[in-house]
Amino acid sequence: MHRHVLYPGSFDPVTLGHLDLVERASRLFDQVTVVVAASGKAGLLGLEERVDLFRAAVTGLPGVDVEPFSGLLVEEVRRRGATAVVRGIRTPGDYEHEWTMAGVNALLAADVEYVYLLARPHLAAISSTLVRDVMRHGGALERLVPEPVARALAGRGA
Ligand code: PNS
Repeated sequence: MHRHVLYPGSFDPVTLGHLDLVERASRLFDQVTVVVAASGKAGLLGLEERVDLFRAAVTGLPGVDVEPFSGLLVEEVRRRGATAVVRGIRTPGDYEHEWTMAGVNALLAADVEYVYLLARPHLAAISSTLVRDVMRHGGALERLVPEPVARALAGRGA
């Protein structure tokens, strides 16, 4: 059986925590498709750049691809022939948010399975929101985002 999982998110931008999650998911599944949401919270980067930066971060990682998506997540799962969704949980607040999203998604499509990986402790503080804040103020990004992403975003702060 080919185990194909989707990893959805805004990834604005992709962080070291997201990258760690993809690496761990790729050891559990045959194929991991990162699906970058077109809509969502008002952020910083456009869809194309969020996809490009994630692709740069996972270059050479076998069984991992990165694609944009719009519409309902459960429909994207079906469209891509996947059977599961993986998400990371960094904080208790994340858990509450995931709990409600999974509840609604289960009412929309009962056959999709959800897998949650706890963020590794040394990465659990890193959120895209805080990365954007550090970036806006010209702070160093090297310990927060993958190396090609830090390079691409350097000097983009206020
Ligand atoms: O990184 P984020 O912003 O927490 O990701 C949230 C995301 C994109 C996974 C979520 O908003 C989503 O699944 N959006 C697609 C629309 C959808 O299916 N909504 C109904 C279920 S909550």
